[in-house]
Amino acid sequence: MRCKLLVLISGYGSNLQAIIDACASRQLNAEIVGVISNVPTAFGLERARRANIPAVVVDHKAFASRGEFDAALRQTLQQFDADLVVLAGFMRILNADLVNSYAGRMLNIHPSLLPRYPGLNTHQRALDAGDSEHGCTVHFVTANLDGGPLIGQSRCPVHADDSAQTLADRVHGLEHLLYQTVIDWYANGRLRFADGQARLDETPLEAPVQI
Ligand code: GRF
Repeated sequence: MRCKLLVLISGYGSNLQAIIDACASRQLNAEIVGVISNVPTAFGLERARRANIPAVVVDHKAFASRGEFDAALRQTLQQFDADLVVLAGFMRILNADLVNSYAGRMLNIHPSLLPRYPGLNTHQRALDAGDSEHGCTVHFVTANLDGGPLIGQSRCPVHADDSAQTLADRVHGLEHLLYQTVIDWYANGRLRFADGQARLDETPLEAPVQI
């Protein structure tokens, strides 16, 4: 049976597109059952529609409080009978209750070599620190922001003349294969979350796999 993915986005959706393409070409033993965006104008919504994937907006600005948005998002998530929730450039912090109810069934991609630079502006922070290497990480989502168990990482060099934009572009180029690889592990039952740890082929990952 194909693993049912629900993808959450806020913007351009190039990671979403890569997953759509990998499902369509059967490189991934998975199907996307829905896309949710908190931003009504996100281009990723258009990508979903073009691929005939149900796309739903839960606009955080339409709610009076964070709690009301969280409740609406939870309800929408539950409408899709997904095996795995994939955060792909989803720019809202999810509340702990919601995250906990998807423990081991929610992944995120983050544009830094975690545990370095959780949060925003990762590329500028890597430049400011004078790092010679930068990259991206896929991890299980826990209530600890960008702090859940690390699964996979891809690295690239930082060049002397890099700007935050050139560095972001280089990292972006690594993200698609990394995410696809990790989702593939999950879809094939090789990756799971147990006792607060990521396990690949039943071996606890002490460090993220370098891809
Ligand atoms: C990526 O850099 C991802 O790591 C970050 O947001 C960006 C989303 O890009 N969380 P896209 O919308 O998938 O093109």
